[in-house]
Amino acid sequence: MTHQPYSTRRQQVLDRLGNGVAILATAPERVRNRDAHYPYRFDSYFWYLSGFPEPDAVIVLVGGDEPKSLLFCREKNEERETWDGFRYGPEAAATAFGFSEAHPIASLEQQLPELIANRAALWHSLGHDADWDARIAAALNAVRNQGRSGARAPGEIRDLRNLLDQMRLTKDAHEIEIMRRAADIASAGHSRAMRACQPGMAEYELEAELGYEFRRRGADGHAYTPIVAGGANACILHYVENNKLLANRSLVLIDAGCEVGGYASDITRTFPVNGRFSPEQREVYEIVLAAQQAAIAAVRPGASFTDYHQAALGVLAQGLIDLKLITGSVDGAIESEAYKPWYMHRTGHWLGLDVHDAGEYKTGTADDDWVRLAPGMVLTVEPGLYFRPGSDVPKHLHGIGVRVEDDVLVTSEGCSVYTTAPRTVAEIEEVMRHD
Ligand code: GLY
Ligand code: MN
Ligand code: MN
Repeated sequence: MTHQPYSTRRQQVLDRLGNGVAILATAPERVRNRDAHYPYRFDSYFWYLSGFPEPDAVIVLVGGDEPKSLLFCREKNEERETWDGFRYGPEAAATAFGFSEAHPIASLEQQLPELIANRAALWHSLGHDADWDARIAAALNAVRNQGRSGARAPGEIRDLRNLLDQMRLTKDAHEIEIMRRAADIASAGHSRAMRACQPGMAEYELEAELGYEFRRRGADGHAYTPIVAGGANACILHYVENNKLLANRSLVLIDAGCEVGGYASDITRTFPVNGRFSPEQREVYEIVLAAQQAAIAAVRPGASFTDYHQAALGVLAQGLIDLKLITGSVDGAIESEAYKPWYMHRTGHWLGLDVHDAGEYKTGTADDDWVRLAPGMVLTVEPGLYFRPGSDVPKHLHGIGVRVEDDVLVTSEGCSVYTTAPRTVAEIEEVMRHD
C-alpha cells in the first residue's frame, strides 16, 4: 500500500489550516450484543486522511511554520494481538502511513493541551460525538487554566468536516480507480443474481448470490444493507427484510452495492423473476430507463446538480401521462408535483466513501443555488416508478415497482457511466435465458 494519496490530502488540509490545529478521530468499535461486536468500520473522514484501518486512532494536524501530521494509535501488544490480530503500533504506523510522528493513543489526553495551545483555530467537528466534544472542552480548559504562564487557548472552533466535505466532493485518480473496482464487482454481483433467479426462490437466496460474488471477488462486503424486493415489496423504498418468496410473473428489484477500500458502489436493477418482462412491466421499465438515459445526458461539467433530476422528471411525467395516470402537460405535472405518488425520491446523490457521500448539494439558500457539476464528481442516477397495490392506478400496474440505478463519473467531456450490470430489456432477458 502506498500512503501517498492519503499524505497528499493531509498536506492539502495543512495548507488550509494556517496556524490552526485539526483533530480527527476514527470510529469506535461498537458492541452488538453482550461481548459480540459489529464488524469494525473506520470513520470515512479519518480514512480519507490516513488509510489507517485500526480503531482507537486519532489524527492531529498541526499547521503553521513547521507543519506536522501526528497519528495516535494503539501500542503493540503481544497478548492482545494473539487474541485480536495485528496492530501496527506507533513506530511502524508512522512509516507505513507517512505521518511525521506517531504516539500511543494513551498519551493523547496529556498531549492535547500542549498541541492546541497558542493556535488561532481549533478544527474539530462539534456536535457529532458528545464524548469527543467533552474531551476537546477539557483540553481547552486545561490550556485556559495555564493562562498565567502565557498559554492561550484557540479563539476559534472551526468545522473540519466542512473543509473535508469540499475536498471529498471531487474524487482524485486513486479514488476513481478504487470506485471502478467497487463498481465492477457490484455489477458482477447483479449479473450473478439475474442468472440465478428462478420463480419460487426466496429473496434472501438472491441476497446470498450477491454477497457471495462480492466476497469472492475481494470486496469487503456490502456497502449498505441490500434491498432484494420481490413484487410489491419494491414499492417499499427501504425494504430490507428480504425474506419473501419470488413469485412467477413478478419483478424483483435489487438495490445493492459493495465496499472496496472504503468506497461504495450503488446499483439498482429490476428484472422479471422468470426472465421475461410482461408487456405492462416492460412499458413501465422502458419509461424508467428512458428517464435514466435523459438524466445521464444532463450530467456534464457546468450543469447544476438538479438538472439531471429535472431531466428525469420530464420523462417520468410524460410516461405517467402516456399511462393515463395524470392529465395535462409535462410542465404542469412537474409544477404541481402530480408525479409524486409514484416518484417520491430524488434522482441521485453523491457517491464515495459513504453511499450517500459527503458534500453539499447547494451553495446557498436561493432556489437555483445548486452545486455545479465538475470533473471528478461521482453521483448516482436512479429514477424509479412505484405503483403500490391498492393505490389509485389500474389493476394491471399494481405491485410494479421499478428503479434503475447506475454510478456516474463527471468527466471533462460529459460523464462516464461506470457500472455495467445488464440494463436494457434485451440485455436482461439475454443473461436470464436458461435454454
Ligand atoms: N442504496 C441507497 C440509495 O440508492 O440511495
Ligand atoms: Mn443510491
Ligand atoms: Mn441504491
